[in-house]
Amino acid sequence: MSEDRVKIFDTTLRDGEQSPGCSMNTAEKLTMARQLEELGVDIIEAGFPIASAGDFEAVRQVAATAGPSVTIAALARASQADIERAAAALEPARHPRIHVFLATSDIHLEHKLRLKPEQAMGRIAESVRLARSFVDDVEFSCEDATRTKRAYLCECFRAAVEAGATTLNIPDTVGYTMPREYAEIIRDVRQAVGEGPTLSVHCHDDLGLAVANSLAAIESGARQVECTINGIGERAGNAALEEIVMALQVRHDLVPLVTGVRSELLYPTSQLLSQTIDVPVQPNKAIVGRNAFAHEAGIHQDGMIKHALTYEIMTPQSVGVPANRLVLGKHSGRHALQRRCEELGFHLDAGQLGELYRRFTELADRKKMILDEDLIRIVHHMEQSLPSVI
Ligand code: KIV
Ligand code: ZN
Repeated sequence: MSEDRVKIFDTTLRDGEQSPGCSMNTAEKLTMARQLEELGVDIIEAGFPIASAGDFEAVRQVAATAGPSVTIAALARASQADIERAAAALEPARHPRIHVFLATSDIHLEHKLRLKPEQAMGRIAESVRLARSFVDDVEFSCEDATRTKRAYLCECFRAAVEAGATTLNIPDTVGYTMPREYAEIIRDVRQAVGEGPTLSVHCHDDLGLAVANSLAAIESGARQVECTINGIGERAGNAALEEIVMALQVRHDLVPLVTGVRSELLYPTSQLLSQTIDVPVQPNKAIVGRNAFAHEAGIHQDGMIKHALTYEIMTPQSVGVPANRLVLGKHSGRHALQRRCEELGFHLDAGQLGELYRRFTELADRKKMILDEDLIRIVHHMEQSLPSVI
């Protein structure tokens, strides 16, 4: 991989799924994983196998069906049972990664883990070594890194590298840091561990800074960013994948780095997730919200009519928002349906289009207007061979 590339580590199926009301069953996780792969993410964190039999099975099936270009990660606490379970779930993966974590801040060590700092350090070395006995690709995270004493944080990461960790993740677990401080932490960790390991960032949005913090860290040398579709995740959520990807794309002049993401699949992926977990996307959500490309004020509309770039820094098409706003209803034909599907990123053969049209007209008899969300749901159900749609 070239130097100027930032790896996208998608944790929609793990941290994202941990947020209330966002859980997914195995079939849903498989469909999302396929879409994430198509989108072009580098790593899919598929779950936390020790958490439940369902999570184990979902990770195993995602690992078994993943294509050759994506790494599948499974989360494990720094314990033998967790690591063995993660390794078993990842067994069918072509590119498996075990992601081990242990909290390192005083508040977590004292009140949650009841461990002395030197005991925690021993645990880090032992667990990373164990994970390395199963796979070559091991990520280690110091949970609550941004509230961990800096010198101790660096020592923990050095211990992880000596034990074989290849990626070091520096999570802002409680969404506490700010861009300048986070950038400084990244620089300090880099200085402590040298150039070998990839530095990763993982930000929560408690202060609404997850994306800003992630970008500051990237500018400071991080080359993996952990994020979720629509920014779902614990509490206020994780950094939104679509915002990070488009910030890097639109401001390539300021931050000359690339990702492997096909930006025109961002909107369809966002819609698929929203449909799958039945959680709507906030209308003014950057990049993928319903109003992200809507212009209401007269002065803006006037500018847009004269030249779209007056009020748009990217085109709707560049993120997969259909440019044509034709309304689909029961009088719409196959061609209009096929075109809208292509704009949404679905390329169907004649047989699939026929089946889609049949289901579409059935629904259009009951519903006046067919929205993008309805089409995505129909295609999603067809893929799973489910009979009814709504
Ligand atoms: O927020 C966090 O610290 C996490 C870790 C498990 C990486 O999700
Ligand atoms: Zn997290």
